[in-house]
Amino acid sequence: MKSAKWIKAPYDFKQAGVTFQKQITLKNTVKKAVLFASCCGVYNAYIDGEKVGNAVLAPGWTSYNSRVQYQKYDVTNMLKNGSILELSCGQGWALSGLSVSYSRNFNLGEICAIASLKVTYVDGKTEQFVTNNTWETCTSDVLFSEIYDGETQDKTAQIKNVGNAVEVNVKTKLVPQIGEWITEHERIAPISVFITPKGEKVVDFGQNMTGYVEFKIKAKRGEKIIITHAEVLDKDGNFYNENYRLAKNKMTYVCSGKDDVFKPKHTFQGFRYIRLDEYPDIEINLDNIRAIAVHSDMERIGDFVCGNAKINQLYHNVIWGQKSNYLDIPTDCPQRDERMGWTGDTQVFCRTGAINFNVNKFFRKWLGDLRIDQHKDGGVPAIVPVVEVFGRRDGLRVSSGWGDAVCICPWEVYLAYGDKTILKENFTAMKKWVEYIRKVGNEEYLWLTGVHFGDWLAMDAGENEYMGATSNDLIASVFYAYSTSILVKVGKILGKDVTEYEELYNNIVKRFREYFIPNGQLQSDYPLTEISKNGEDIVDVKRTGFTQTALVLILHFNLCEEKDKAKFTEMLVKMIEDNGMRMTTGFLGTPYILHALSENGRADIAYKLLLQEKAPSWLYSVNHGATTMWEHWDSLKEDGSFWSMDMNSFNHYAYGAVYDWIFGVAIGIKPTEEDPGYKVVDIAPKPCKELGFADASIKTAYGKIRVKWYYKKETVYYEISVPTNVIANLTLPSGYKTTLTGGEYMFSE
Ligand code: BGC
Repeated sequence: MKSAKWIKAPYDFKQAGVTFQKQITLKNTVKKAVLFASCCGVYNAYIDGEKVGNAVLAPGWTSYNSRVQYQKYDVTNMLKNGSILELSCGQGWALSGLSVSYSRNFNLGEICAIASLKVTYVDGKTEQFVTNNTWETCTSDVLFSEIYDGETQDKTAQIKNVGNAVEVNVKTKLVPQIGEWITEHERIAPISVFITPKGEKVVDFGQNMTGYVEFKIKAKRGEKIIITHAEVLDKDGNFYNENYRLAKNKMTYVCSGKDDVFKPKHTFQGFRYIRLDEYPDIEINLDNIRAIAVHSDMERIGDFVCGNAKINQLYHNVIWGQKSNYLDIPTDCPQRDERMGWTGDTQVFCRTGAINFNVNKFFRKWLGDLRIDQHKDGGVPAIVPVVEVFGRRDGLRVSSGWGDAVCICPWEVYLAYGDKTILKENFTAMKKWVEYIRKVGNEEYLWLTGVHFGDWLAMDAGENEYMGATSNDLIASVFYAYSTSILVKVGKILGKDVTEYEELYNNIVKRFREYFIPNGQLQSDYPLTEISKNGEDIVDVKRTGFTQTALVLILHFNLCEEKDKAKFTEMLVKMIEDNGMRMTTGFLGTPYILHALSENGRADIAYKLLLQEKAPSWLYSVNHGATTMWEHWDSLKEDGSFWSMDMNSFNHYAYGAVYDWIFGVAIGIKPTEEDPGYKVVDIAPKPCKELGFADASIKTAYGKIRVKWYYKKETVYYEISVPTNVIANLTLPSGYKTTLTGGEYMFSE
């Protein structure tokens, strides 16, 4: 790539696609040909009109102003003398308006591309063809493309050569592909096409997902297909996409008159339904319409099934939540005017994500961008890669529970795969984060200041409020302790002297107890804290420490004295019971509530919450037809109305974090800190009669670990597979303990 130049069109193509091309004249027979390519925007490479490789939305999303990935393709079998090499580019994440403010996040402001084709001839000589001002610029059949708004493709458009490309100086670093490739996956057939009460023609794919719709069609030249996307129907059965907010998600295709295949080239959507706003005057053949799932090409390693169909559907929804939101970076949702790397959502789901798929590479890439975007003072932005939001170019704000992703994600990924590299890469960033909190607070051992997102979308928030009732000071101080504890463990693993941080951790715990639970008493009111609702106007809100989330965090993170645990567990159970055996927790309490209960002898209550069907509960959304995780516990209310238009995604994986409890506690497979990556694994199943049976596995570097339990009358049987070279510490509910090495085992009690 060294001699290749960044090139751009001779004039600004604005939101239209740009194609750069070069005819390749070869001197001899080709032994090997390798193409390296990248773009500020997104690109597809073609040789003689045939797509090179199977990457979608390359070069992916990184902190573009600092680094852009390039891809490498073997094109030996595609290249002929006289071949035309093309790079067809669109705006992508680099240049589309992003976030609610539709701000562009790459400072060059225009699409540009770079490529190098390295040819080795049969005689051993090599030749390079690189982008420079001898390449030609052409218009494209993509007349418009935007990440949020969709794309217009016109197969009747005259493709014009508009002159040579212009060399340009792009100040960013080109790096080889670090993450997984983004590729197409499932091809989903529609389950129906119907007319809504309003008279709209709608196609239902039966699965909420991320990707796009492909049409195969032969219509009259100039006839159009125009579609918009939606995740749900409203209570009258009409097409509903107000929850996409400003994002238009609209595709327009103009037919050529011949056999056409349409799908977006430079964008994607989140949807289950499409509305056919315009369609050629021919019968719709559903065989020619497919929804194609697009996500990072991670290896699936986990599997689960049990005797309860609703829990199986919940698991399906967790998996599809991950597929939909692990598209090169971990996103909050794939459809509305966000689709960004919210750090809080990411850390909450990370452990579950690492059980379902191998996400080692995926996280190493994203954490690389997090380190780039970490503020000089150690603050971690709420969004990575940073996107301008509400006019702020710093990733919105630093929030507890969000910024802690810098400690939590590397730690979880390390436990899952046992690779220390991710710890080495992030140790300094973790330290900077802990030091940031230490300095930013008005006391060294607590985090009592700042503007946080808190227990986001908890049910104890007021009507139409986003932030739960739990004191942000308490939450921030819990996560301060948690991140510091991870820093200490990581430091020890890496052989660093972390005595200072061990002391810091002990002091945080001590001070936490004095301040938040003096004499073992939970406080109902805390001093006023400054809370910002939209990032700009500061309002004062009173938050309490007397909530389910407060108790969950205190218990799970061991922040009370051992002797107070039974009392706090009882309080938590009482709060749950008083709420009709339901949670009130939001983004920060929910991931830990079942753990806090089962760790304190109340797996029975944890199961009751898991199996609860009234909102707020996991099965409520299942009962209401969910095929992915919902952002809000009652995104769709009992009467069919929506809880809000604004913060109402039907594909937000955060609450899918429940699967780490199902796998780690109900099934009972947990990696150990002693020898992570499941080399030494704890197996401690907690069976539940109502599920009948449960069977889960994980493919580790050493082989597949599987646990199945099932009931026959009152007896529970356990089938356990342990791969060779793995040591499993088994604990059965009776207290029976043994150590297992490679083999198949059966127990009953
Ligand atoms: C996102 C969240 C995110 C939150 C910050 C929302 O708009 O969709 O999932 O974490 O803002 O609180």
